[in-house]
Amino acid sequence: MTKERIAVIGGGMMGQGIAQVFAVAGHPVRVGEPDTTRREGIVARVKRNLGDEAAAADRISPCADVGQAVEDADAVFECVFEDLALKRSLFEIIEAAAPAAALLASNTSVIPITGIVERVRDKGRAMGTHWWNPPDLVPLVEVIQTVETTEPAIQRMLDLLTRVGKTPVRVRRDVPGFIGNRLQHALWREAIALVENGVCDAETVDTVVKASFGRRLAVLGPLENADLVGTDMTLAIHKEVLFDLDRTPGPLAYLRDLVAAGRLGMKTGQGFRTWTKPQMAALKDRVATHLKRLIAAERG
Ligand SMILES: NC(=O)c1ccc[n+]([C@@H]2O[C@H](COP(=O)([O-])OP(=O)(O)OC[C@H]3O[C@@H](n4cnc5c(N)ncnc54)[C@H](O)[C@@H]3O)[C@@H](O)[C@H]2O)c1
Repeated sequence: MTKERIAVIGGGMMGQGIAQVFAVAGHPVRVGEPDTTRREGIVARVKRNLGDEAAAADRISPCADVGQAVEDADAVFECVFEDLALKRSLFEIIEAAAPAAALLASNTSVIPITGIVERVRDKGRAMGTHWWNPPDLVPLVEVIQTVETTEPAIQRMLDLLTRVGKTPVRVRRDVPGFIGNRLQHALWREAIALVENGVCDAETVDTVVKASFGRRLAVLGPLENADLVGTDMTLAIHKEVLFDLDRTPGPLAYLRDLVAAGRLGMKTGQGFRTWTKPQMAALKDRVATHLKRLIAAERG
């Protein structure tokens, strides 16, 4: 079977990783990236990342022009900045230049797909594909359908992603944040509320998660866990605790205050916690090493 031609629009952190996944799986990949420095560095960065498999990066062709990047694509993955107006206007350019049968996907983290593809005329082939960072080490891709996405288009995308080794799941309604980010940020809101309300400090929140249910999460999802302990037990717990969880319908004051004070996290050295350069490097290394070990363990 001929490998589909892939176009990735935006060669930043996510675009580069997605291009790498397809290149390793043998697909020719064009990356549309207007920033010269980023564009010229993509192949070298992927080669560095791949080590022994570096030759696969030669399947990646960066180009400055979006139209040229998509002109013979079977599937297009848009990975530009998280900006609705930018994404909307790019999808007009992409649709005008791409083959009529190409699948058109946005990698937005949380913006509903319906708004992003508003100006696409053939909406049957447009959808979201929410990859997780780093795309080569995290298996999940959420495939988000709008009310107009066709079943064959969804099936083609699920099949393509499965063949390149990803774990695609289907999101049947185009809700903000899809599935993963809704779950993740429900947890983060409660985490911030615990600190805001003086129950514990930020380090304690992180220790509790990492040293308890975080250990199980990679092999035991929340609803599997509910079945494991029993739905009756889950109901009893919910009766006792849900009334007291935070339900603020917007960002918490504690978070707004951090941002207003310029405490932006690792990029300024202070956020919920204070970070030295070695601590930041150690954390990033710990995450990457952990993800690589998980993959190695799964491969046996
Ligand atoms: N970073 C993450 O953890 C993560 C995870 C999942 C999804 N996402 C989503 O993926 C998308 C990209 O995120 P990122 O972290 O890779 O961003 P990034 O800033 O690293 O990269 C964005 C790239 O888009 C390019 N770009 C800007 N305008 C363009 C245009 N008109 N045509 C082509 N390229 C253009 C930029 O030059 C840049 O290289 C965003 O929608 C983001 O929300 C990010």
